Amino acid sequence: MIMPSLIGHRGCAGHAPENTLASIKMAAQMGCGWIEADASLLVDGSVILFHDDTLDRCTNGVGPIENLTWADVRLLDAGAWWGTGRQYAGVHVPLLSEALMCCKSLGLGFNIELKVRGDEGEKLAFAVGEILKTVDHGPVLISSFDMGALQVFAGDAPKGLLYDILPDDWEKTAQNLDAKTVHLWAEKATQDQVDVIKHTGRAVYLFTINDKSQMKLHNVDGVFTDFPDRIAGAV
Ligand code: G3P
Ligand code: MG
Repeated sequence: MIMPSLIGHRGCAGHAPENTLASIKMAAQMGCGWIEADASLLVDGSVILFHDDTLDRCTNGVGPIENLTWADVRLLDAGAWWGTGRQYAGVHVPLLSEALMCCKSLGLGFNIELKVRGDEGEKLAFAVGEILKTVDHGPVLISSFDMGALQVFAGDAPKGLLYDILPDDWEKTAQNLDAKTVHLWAEKATQDQVDVIKHTGRAVYLFTINDKSQMKLHNVDGVFTDFPDRIAGAV
Protein backbone atom coordinates (compact mmCIF):
# COMPACT_ATOMS: atom_id res chain seq x y z
CA MET A 1 0.00 0.00 0.00
CA ILE A 2 1.44 3.38 -1.00
CA MET A 3 -0.71 5.71 1.09
CA PRO A 4 -2.30 4.92 4.47
CA SER A 5 -6.02 4.50 5.14
CA LEU A 6 -6.69 8.11 6.17
CA ILE A 7 -5.56 10.96 3.93
CA GLY A 8 -6.36 14.52 4.91
CA HIS A 9 -8.29 16.16 2.06
CA ARG A 10 -6.96 19.59 0.97
CA GLY A 11 -4.88 19.30 4.14
CA CYS A 12 -7.61 18.93 6.73
CA ALA A 13 -10.38 21.02 5.19
CA GLY A 14 -12.99 20.31 7.86
CA HIS A 15 -10.88 21.86 10.59
CA ALA A 16 -8.83 24.59 8.92
CA PRO A 17 -8.91 26.57 5.67
CA GLU A 18 -8.28 24.18 2.78
CA ASN A 19 -5.01 24.05 0.86
CA THR A 20 -3.09 26.13 3.42
CA LEU A 21 -0.12 25.27 5.64
CA ALA A 22 -2.49 25.60 8.63
CA SER A 23 -4.62 22.88 7.11
CA ILE A 24 -1.61 20.62 6.55
CA LYS A 25 -0.49 21.13 10.15
CA MET A 26 -3.98 20.32 11.36
CA ALA A 27 -3.90 17.04 9.42
CA ALA A 28 -0.71 16.08 11.22
CA GLN A 29 -2.24 17.02 14.58
CA MET A 30 -5.23 14.80 13.78
CA GLY A 31 -3.03 11.81 13.13
CA CYS A 32 -3.01 11.66 9.32
CA GLY A 33 0.09 10.12 7.77
CA TRP A 34 -0.58 11.73 4.38
CA ILE A 35 -2.42 14.72 2.99
CA GLU A 36 -3.86 15.54 -0.42
CA ALA A 37 -3.77 19.06 -1.84
CA ASP A 38 -4.46 20.71 -5.20
CA ALA A 39 -1.54 22.05 -7.26
CA SER A 40 -2.51 24.95 -9.54
CA LEU A 41 -0.35 26.73 -12.10
CA LEU A 42 -0.09 30.52 -12.25
CA VAL A 43 0.69 32.40 -15.43
CA ASP A 44 4.28 33.13 -14.32
CA GLY A 45 4.97 29.39 -13.86
CA SER A 46 4.56 29.41 -10.07
CA VAL A 47 2.65 26.49 -8.57
CA ILE A 48 0.35 27.17 -5.63
CA LEU A 49 -2.08 25.11 -3.57
CA PHE A 50 -5.53 26.10 -4.78
CA HIS A 51 -8.68 24.24 -5.73
CA ASP A 52 -11.06 26.67 -7.41
CA ASP A 53 -10.85 28.51 -10.74
CA THR A 54 -11.58 31.79 -8.96
CA LEU A 55 -10.31 33.50 -5.84
CA ASP A 56 -13.73 34.30 -4.43
CA ARG A 57 -14.60 31.37 -2.15
CA CYS A 58 -11.28 30.86 -0.37
CA THR A 59 -9.54 34.25 -0.35
CA ASN A 60 -10.28 37.92 0.05
CA GLY A 61 -9.67 38.36 -3.70
CA VAL A 62 -12.13 38.13 -6.57
CA GLY A 63 -12.06 36.77 -10.10
CA PRO A 64 -10.31 34.00 -12.03
CA ILE A 65 -6.80 32.84 -11.14
CA GLU A 66 -5.82 32.11 -14.74
CA ASN A 67 -3.95 35.36 -15.40
CA LEU A 68 -2.48 35.88 -11.95
CA THR A 69 1.16 35.73 -10.89
CA TRP A 70 2.66 34.83 -7.51
CA ALA A 71 3.09 38.56 -6.87
CA ASP A 72 -0.70 38.91 -7.19
CA VAL A 73 -1.52 35.92 -4.99
CA ARG A 74 1.06 36.04 -2.23
CA LEU A 75 -0.56 38.87 -0.29
CA LEU A 76 -4.09 37.48 -0.37
CA ASP A 77 -5.73 36.32 2.83
CA ALA A 78 -6.73 32.65 2.50
CA GLY A 79 -7.97 32.12 6.05
CA ALA A 80 -10.30 34.95 7.10
CA TRP A 81 -13.22 33.37 5.22
CA TRP A 82 -13.05 30.17 7.22
CA GLY A 83 -15.26 29.52 10.24
CA THR A 84 -16.83 32.14 12.43
CA GLY A 85 -14.00 33.35 14.66
CA ARG A 86 -11.49 34.66 12.11
CA GLN A 87 -8.90 32.50 13.88
CA TYR A 88 -7.18 31.84 10.56
CA ALA A 89 -7.16 35.45 9.32
CA GLY A 90 -3.78 36.26 7.78
CA VAL A 91 -3.08 32.73 6.53
CA HIS A 92 -1.74 32.88 2.97
CA VAL A 93 -2.03 30.77 -0.18
CA PRO A 94 1.10 28.59 -0.14
CA LEU A 95 3.48 27.77 -2.92
CA LEU A 96 3.76 24.04 -3.63
CA SER A 97 7.39 24.26 -2.52
CA GLU A 98 6.35 25.61 0.91
CA ALA A 99 3.78 22.85 1.27
CA LEU A 100 6.35 20.18 0.37
CA MET A 101 8.74 21.51 3.02
CA CYS A 102 5.92 21.68 5.55
CA CYS A 103 4.93 18.05 4.89
CA LYS A 104 8.55 16.95 5.12
CA SER A 105 9.03 18.70 8.46
CA LEU A 106 5.86 17.08 9.85
CA GLY A 107 6.65 13.61 8.50
CA LEU A 108 3.61 13.66 6.20
CA GLY A 109 3.36 12.05 2.77
CA PHE A 110 1.86 14.30 0.09
CA ASN A 111 -0.59 13.37 -2.66
CA ILE A 112 -0.17 16.25 -5.11
CA GLU A 113 -3.27 16.52 -7.27
CA LEU A 114 -2.47 18.25 -10.55
CA LYS A 115 -5.44 20.62 -10.94
CA VAL A 116 -5.36 21.28 -14.68
CA ARG A 117 -7.23 24.19 -16.29
CA GLY A 118 -7.67 24.29 -20.04
CA ASP A 119 -4.66 23.02 -21.98
CA GLU A 120 -2.05 23.77 -19.32
CA GLY A 121 -1.62 20.15 -18.20
CA GLU A 122 1.81 19.67 -19.72
CA LYS A 123 3.13 22.93 -18.27
CA LEU A 124 1.78 22.14 -14.81
CA ALA A 125 3.21 18.61 -14.84
CA PHE A 126 6.59 19.96 -15.95
CA ALA A 127 6.57 22.71 -13.31
CA VAL A 128 5.70 20.25 -10.52
CA GLY A 129 8.45 17.90 -11.72
CA GLU A 130 10.99 20.73 -11.57
CA ILE A 131 9.88 21.74 -8.06
CA LEU A 132 10.23 18.15 -6.86
CA LYS A 133 13.80 18.10 -8.21
CA THR A 134 14.81 21.19 -6.24
CA VAL A 135 12.89 20.91 -2.94
CA ASP A 136 13.86 18.39 -0.27
CA HIS A 137 10.64 16.43 0.16
CA GLY A 138 9.18 13.30 1.71
CA PRO A 139 6.98 10.64 0.07
CA VAL A 140 4.89 12.00 -2.82
CA LEU A 141 2.21 10.59 -5.11
CA ILE A 142 1.02 12.51 -8.18
CA SER A 143 -2.64 12.23 -9.15
CA SER A 144 -4.93 13.95 -11.62
CA PHE A 145 -8.22 13.78 -13.47
CA ASP A 146 -6.15 14.90 -16.46
CA MET A 147 -4.48 11.82 -17.95
CA GLY A 148 -2.45 13.96 -20.37
CA ALA A 149 -0.78 15.72 -17.45
CA LEU A 150 0.04 12.39 -15.80
CA GLN A 151 1.44 11.16 -19.12
CA VAL A 152 4.00 13.95 -19.34
CA PHE A 153 4.93 13.99 -15.65
CA ALA A 154 8.53 12.77 -15.72
CA GLY A 155 9.44 12.46 -12.05
CA ASP A 156 9.99 9.29 -10.01
CA ALA A 157 6.84 9.70 -7.91
CA PRO A 158 4.14 7.04 -8.27
CA LYS A 159 1.00 8.06 -10.13
CA GLY A 160 -2.67 7.78 -9.26
CA LEU A 161 -5.66 8.03 -11.60
CA LEU A 162 -8.57 10.19 -10.46
CA TYR A 163 -12.06 9.44 -11.71
CA ASP A 164 -15.53 10.75 -10.95
CA ILE A 165 -16.85 7.77 -12.91
CA LEU A 166 -14.56 4.86 -13.79
CA PRO A 167 -14.40 4.54 -17.61
CA ASP A 168 -14.29 1.16 -19.37
CA ASP A 169 -10.72 1.73 -20.56
CA TRP A 170 -9.29 2.62 -17.15
CA GLU A 171 -6.96 -0.41 -17.06
CA LYS A 172 -5.37 0.47 -20.39
CA THR A 173 -4.75 3.98 -19.06
CA ALA A 174 -3.35 2.59 -15.82
CA GLN A 175 -0.97 0.34 -17.76
CA ASN A 176 0.14 3.15 -20.08
CA LEU A 177 0.84 5.47 -17.16
CA ASP A 178 2.12 2.75 -14.83
CA ALA A 179 -0.40 4.03 -12.27
CA LYS A 180 -0.14 2.41 -8.86
CA THR A 181 -3.40 3.75 -7.41
CA VAL A 182 -6.94 4.61 -8.54
CA HIS A 183 -8.94 7.28 -6.69
CA LEU A 184 -12.69 7.07 -7.13
CA TRP A 185 -15.53 9.41 -6.26
CA ALA A 186 -17.24 7.59 -3.37
CA GLU A 187 -20.73 8.52 -4.55
CA LYS A 188 -20.37 6.65 -7.85
CA ALA A 189 -17.89 3.89 -6.98
CA THR A 190 -19.18 0.32 -6.83
CA GLN A 191 -17.92 -2.79 -5.07
CA ASP A 192 -17.34 -4.47 -8.43
CA GLN A 193 -15.09 -1.62 -9.54
CA VAL A 194 -13.10 -1.77 -6.31
CA ASP A 195 -12.68 -5.53 -6.63
CA VAL A 196 -11.62 -5.38 -10.29
CA ILE A 197 -9.04 -2.67 -9.63
CA LYS A 198 -7.69 -4.49 -6.60
CA HIS A 199 -7.43 -7.66 -8.68
CA THR A 200 -4.93 -5.86 -10.94
CA GLY A 201 -2.70 -5.17 -7.92
CA ARG A 202 -3.50 -1.46 -7.71
CA ALA A 203 -4.61 0.32 -4.56
CA VAL A 204 -8.05 2.00 -4.38
CA TYR A 205 -8.84 5.21 -2.51
CA LEU A 206 -12.23 6.94 -2.22
CA PHE A 207 -12.92 10.67 -2.08
CA THR A 208 -14.37 12.36 -0.11
CA ILE A 209 -15.63 10.46 2.94
CA ASN A 210 -16.68 12.72 5.80
CA ASP A 211 -19.05 10.46 7.68
CA LYS A 212 -18.81 6.77 8.58
CA SER A 213 -22.22 6.16 6.96
CA GLN A 214 -20.67 7.04 3.56
CA MET A 215 -18.26 4.11 3.91
CA LYS A 216 -20.36 1.53 2.04
CA LEU A 217 -17.60 -0.36 0.20
CA HIS A 218 -15.03 -2.75 1.56
CA ASN A 219 -11.58 -3.80 0.41
CA VAL A 220 -10.54 -0.18 -0.26
CA ASP A 221 -7.07 0.90 0.81
CA GLY A 222 -8.02 4.30 2.13
CA VAL A 223 -10.12 7.44 1.93
CA PHE A 224 -9.64 11.16 1.53
CA THR A 225 -11.42 13.03 4.31
CA ASP A 226 -11.94 16.57 5.56
CA PHE A 227 -12.63 15.12 9.03
CA PRO A 228 -10.07 12.47 10.01
CA ASP A 229 -11.46 12.52 13.56
CA ARG A 230 -14.90 11.37 12.34
CA ILE A 231 -13.59 8.64 10.05
CA ALA A 232 -10.92 7.06 12.26
CA GLY A 233 -11.52 3.32 12.46
CA ALA A 234 -13.97 3.18 9.52
CA VAL A 235 -11.49 1.97 6.91
O1 G3P B 1 -7.86 13.99 -4.96
C1 G3P B 1 -9.13 13.67 -4.49
C2 G3P B 1 -10.06 14.86 -4.55
O2 G3P B 1 -9.40 15.97 -4.00
C3 G3P B 1 -10.52 15.18 -5.93
O3 G3P B 1 -11.51 16.16 -5.97
O4 G3P B 1 -12.37 18.43 -6.32
O5 G3P B 1 -11.66 17.74 -4.04
O6 G3P B 1 -9.96 18.14 -5.82
P1 G3P B 1 -11.35 17.68 -5.51
MG1 MG C 1 -8.15 17.54 -4.77
